[in-house]
Amino acid sequence: MSQTVDESKIGGLGVSRKRVEDNRFIRGRGNYTDDIVLPGMLHLEILRSPLAHARIKSIDTSRAWEIPGVRLVLTGEMAATRNLAWMPTLSYDTQAVLATDKVRFQGQEVACVVADDPYIAKDACEAIDVEYEPLPVVVNPEQAVAEDAPLIRDDKAGQTDNVVYRWEVGDPAGTDAAFEKADVVSKLRLHYPRSHPSPIECCGSVADFDRATNKLTVYMTTQAPHIIRAAVAMVAELPEHLIRIISPDIGGGFGNKVPVYPGYVCSILCSILLERPVKWIEDKTGNLISTGFARDMYLDGELALRADGKILGVRMHAEADHGAFFADAQPSKFKIGLLHSTFACYDVPAAHLTARGTYTNKAPGGVAYRCSFRVTEAMFFQERMVHQAAKDLGLDPAEFRRRNFVRAEDFPHRTPFGFLVDSGQPQACLDVGLRAVGYEDFLRQKEEARKRGRRLGIGISTMTEPLGAGNSREYDILGIKMFDSAELRVHMTGKAILRVGAKSQGQGHETTWAQIVSHELGIPADDVTVEEGDTDTAPFGMGTYASRSTPVAGAAISLVSRKIRAKARKLAAHLLEVSEEDLEWELGRFSVRGVPEHGVTIQECAMAAYGNMPDGMEPGLENHAYYDPPNLTWPFAVYIVTVEVDPETGVWDVLNTVAVDDCGVRINPMIVEGQIMGGLTEAYAMANMQFITFDAEGNCVGSNYMDYLLPTAWETPGFELHSEVVTPSPHHPIGAKGVGECAAVGGPAAFVNAVLDALDDTGVRNIDMPLLPDRVWEALTRRHDVSG
Ligand code: CDP
Repeated sequence: MSQTVDESKIGGLGVSRKRVEDNRFIRGRGNYTDDIVLPGMLHLEILRSPLAHARIKSIDTSRAWEIPGVRLVLTGEMAATRNLAWMPTLSYDTQAVLATDKVRFQGQEVACVVADDPYIAKDACEAIDVEYEPLPVVVNPEQAVAEDAPLIRDDKAGQTDNVVYRWEVGDPAGTDAAFEKADVVSKLRLHYPRSHPSPIECCGSVADFDRATNKLTVYMTTQAPHIIRAAVAMVAELPEHLIRIISPDIGGGFGNKVPVYPGYVCSILCSILLERPVKWIEDKTGNLISTGFARDMYLDGELALRADGKILGVRMHAEADHGAFFADAQPSKFKIGLLHSTFACYDVPAAHLTARGTYTNKAPGGVAYRCSFRVTEAMFFQERMVHQAAKDLGLDPAEFRRRNFVRAEDFPHRTPFGFLVDSGQPQACLDVGLRAVGYEDFLRQKEEARKRGRRLGIGISTMTEPLGAGNSREYDILGIKMFDSAELRVHMTGKAILRVGAKSQGQGHETTWAQIVSHELGIPADDVTVEEGDTDTAPFGMGTYASRSTPVAGAAISLVSRKIRAKARKLAAHLLEVSEEDLEWELGRFSVRGVPEHGVTIQECAMAAYGNMPDGMEPGLENHAYYDPPNLTWPFAVYIVTVEVDPETGVWDVLNTVAVDDCGVRINPMIVEGQIMGGLTEAYAMANMQFITFDAEGNCVGSNYMDYLLPTAWETPGFELHSEVVTPSPHHPIGAKGVGECAAVGGPAAFVNAVLDALDDTGVRNIDMPLLPDRVWEALTRRHDVSG
């Protein structure tokens, strides 16, 4: 008689367990950085530059110092005496902490004030007199490389122009040969505009330097606390064991909370100088104008096509606008950095990619907003090119994809840029999506509607993207190899605490990580506490971004649970007085082979680890594991959108959105669906409404929520999600692949393709995002492309 634990009842794998963290979030009991209040705490505010490019002639802080309650007014010159006026960035560039020589973008940090309360600090910032000498402003890559362009980074020895990098990958000769053989060449040029991750919680930190212990504790909004600890140790030259970074609850990150911002550094420096805790909480406009912007890439591409629809080769060029400081992770160094990940689900024999990055007088850009480096731009461009190529050939876009997909039986597949895509079922996913949306029927409706002056359109986006950096052979940040970690301690009653190197910003790790332990050990998920984000207690990890948590940290959780199970087996053998080989494992219980009623539970093994271990066995039931993945994970996704465009106004409405996501084994289907819905919402927002740009003088247009729109439930269309296709990751211990960013990466092209499909008799090849009504109307009535 089997006494196996029923996994579905203990919150194991595949259970839509309710999110345990929501208990505190919906009760207003979350613990965010701004909730931290320490005795004697002071408040820091930052003075930002009103100009995009100007030489600083003088800074007079005397009026600010006179305001009662002001404790410190810090300028770049003062920071320089501590060697902290500049800091290194993730991409081995430098970024000003507080400007000393020039300001290089609107909103750049010029000085800061620490005072008894934030209002005094703000008033004191306004009392600082800065004399600027305006300089010519550069706001796009074309201006950046013009002959008479001003040199933005004249602080850098040897920098003679505004180019950050020039870089290429692929096979130029093979690609030329492919184009010579082509029957049709399909070209596309577009701009993926700047966008902002815009988490609801802005950035902030509370730095607390204790002179008595020499210990620096920093509570901060970071997605990667251990990397921050390493960076602080390097930059502030403090010993690593005396630095504790605590990342409490985070109200959304989306990549915005990966970089190190001047505000963090200022709060640390001021706390060291004043020997008091110093809190810095950014306001919304500060966040929108100065922290990690994303995208801003001009893309030129062409596909060499055979008349029967086969893609023979692809050429692409990317012009990336990085703003004044190259602060994102180095995209030309990483294998997934620029557009390398394109065409991984298509069988494309030859490809060549060139890229150039430029400095401009804009806030640092290029942050990986809900994506791995530049995967979003890559997938958008790929799927826009694929759509246009099908139209240029007069082929149905779904059929064109079918003719070019890598077949399920042909994985693992080596892409033209060198990735090994280990698994996938592209066609099976597309079939599910086409059936769900009623493809053939919609095409008929579209034709009928067109005859009556109505414009319907359907857009498809299909993609596989690399999720889960490392492996350590190929990926590092500041020389630290990319892997992840978990540490599991089972208490004597069989309850457990799990500490993980990742850091949730709302993705539900506290819920799903416990489910993995449950699946491996049969301990109810409710009996497992999950902790992340404290460098004094969590094992070393690279943090959460690029949907790497499940592929890497999730795998480490499986592995550490298996180590615990291996020790529990020894304990069970001791308790049952048989050899280990005579034991069978059923979930949550070991039993003697052939005598199933004779067994012990995992909880009984835990008790024995503390009270009845065999002679010579080390007491306790705890362990740790690091997972260095042999490959990335390769989820596959199909997004199909149908729209109706109003020809009178250019307004477009979404009729239907179908998503088919194959992310391997799902730990928690409900959480996965939440991730996909969130991603599609962001994709819709990027395609439809989000507009944050810069005028000719470098003023940020859209630096508030009146202008930069976040979609609410009111605007957001409904989504129909499908999970029928499951292709487990071949290397992940439970077959899971990442999913968090898929819909935000693959979604935008489906919306844009749908609108362009509704205009497919006009000769319009492209409208740049956001597809605002006036742009669509202009394209429709003037019959030309509209660039943004
Ligand atoms: O790194 P990040 O947490 O942003 O992304 P992820 O690893 O794709 O996971 C997002 C959320 O979905 C987490 O709570 C995961 O545990 C969950 N997930 C899942 O339940 N099953 C998967 N196959 C992938 C993710």
